[in-house]
Parts: sequence; structure tokens; C-alpha cells
Amino acid sequence: MRRRIEVFEDRDQALRRSAEEFRSLALSSVRARGRFDVALAGGSTPKGLYALLAREPFRARIPWSRTYFFWGDERHVPPDDSESNFRMAWESLLSKVTIPSGNVHRVPSEMRNVAEAAALYERVLRDHFGAKPRFDLVLLGLGPEGHTASLFPGSAALKERRRWVRENWVKKLHAWRITLSLPVINAAKNVVFLVAGEEKAAAVRGALTGSEMPAGRVRPSQGKLLWILDREAAVKFMEVAPTRRSSS
Ligand code: 6PG
Repeated sequence: MRRRIEVFEDRDQALRRSAEEFRSLALSSVRARGRFDVALAGGSTPKGLYALLAREPFRARIPWSRTYFFWGDERHVPPDDSESNFRMAWESLLSKVTIPSGNVHRVPSEMRNVAEAAALYERVLRDHFGAKPRFDLVLLGLGPEGHTASLFPGSAALKERRRWVRENWVKKLHAWRITLSLPVINAAKNVVFLVAGEEKAAAVRGALTGSEMPAGRVRPSQGKLLWILDREAAVKFMEVAPTRRSSS
């Protein structure tokens, strides 16, 4: 695993860097094998990235028709729910660019039975990838206590080693989630964490200094790991392991 940490002065610069990385990986993946398979992150931070990708100069430079969209996790809500990660990505990006509908594979999170929804999504992934789920890019966020995707500390899905997609009860939220398992994330060619804000600083330091929190267990064995941080999110990590500052 090759790991790179890039710190930017503010959230906007970090977002711009993540958009550049998305574009670069899309172009190289399509050049290499004719398609770009990406698992999107949920939450509020990536919303800014998706909005950037929907505008110039990125919009015209991404091979949308060869890009296949999946989700790293989803809430157990219908796709039109305000909490839906699919709805957030649809409103900020997918509805604004020309993408064949067959390229967008949302989690069937409207299904009442959350385990069946996870199993159905796993079949979608297996139909697409075959034997091994090797995303070109898995985009991840980070929670203040170190969760990523919907892999929360102490939750059952964190231990999953066989299934690709798992339903996961999140005690602190009192809610069901559907998430890629750690082995699928760690099988990716590229994993990018996009993290901003002081409230994430302790989790960033933990994840980057070997703690066993979920985000710290993202180690793509045959891939590249890139952390894109703003200065606020990096502040505690930089106290213990100053990193080369990158500015856009
Ligand atoms: C979700 C996400 C989750 C998110 C982090 C960060 O469904 O909420 O997948 O892992 O990325 O909680 O969320 P914010 O960007 O909103 O802080």
C-alpha cells in the first residue's frame, strides 16, 4: 500500500484537489480499460466535490459515459429521503451531467428488509465486477469518532470478511445502514479520504497513526491511499507527524 497525505489551507482547496484527483483517475482508468468504477461517499463533505465536478472545468473533462457509479454506503431510507446519500449525489452531480442511467447503481435502500437490500446490492456488484470487487476509486469521508462509510467503531459490519455488502446497525444513530465491507474497500486500486474541519482532527490523527478505529483499517493492499485534508482537520496529526504541506 502506498499512502500519501496532502494538507491544504482550507476546505475549498481540498475540494479542488479531490476534483482533480477524481478527473485524473477517471481519465487513466478509461484509458487503461475503457471504464471507471467509483464508489461515492455520503455525508456533507463530498457534496462540495460533487458540485465542483458538475461545473467547468471538470464537467467537460470527465468521461461520464464510461463512469460507473456505486455507493460506499447508504442510509436505510428511500432514495428521495433527505438523508439519502444517493439523493445528495443525484442533486449535486448526477442530475447535472449526461450519464447513461445504466451507469448509476444506487443501493436499493427503500427495501423494508435491510439484509435483503444489502444482499441485492452485493449481487449488483458481483454482476459488475465478477470474482473480485476492484473499484478504481473508493471515495471516503471520516466521522469524528473514526467511522468511515458506515463502518462504525464496535459495529458488526466491521468484522465482515466474506460478504461484500453488509447491513449494519449503528447504535449511536439508532439506525440501520448498508455498507461496503472492509475487504471490498481494501481491494480498491485507489482510496481517497476527503476530510475537512477541526471536529475531525482527533480522528485524522488516530487513523493516520495506527489506531484500530475503522478509518485506520483502510489499507488498500494492492492500491494507493490518498488523504486530502484541510489544515483544520490535519492540525492534530501535524503536531505528531509533520507532513509536507501541499498547496493547490
Ligand atoms: C455517511 C457517510 C459517512 C460520512 C462521514 C463524514 O453516510 O454519512 O458515508 O461515512 O462520510 O460521516 O460525514 P460529513 O462529511 O458529513 O462530516
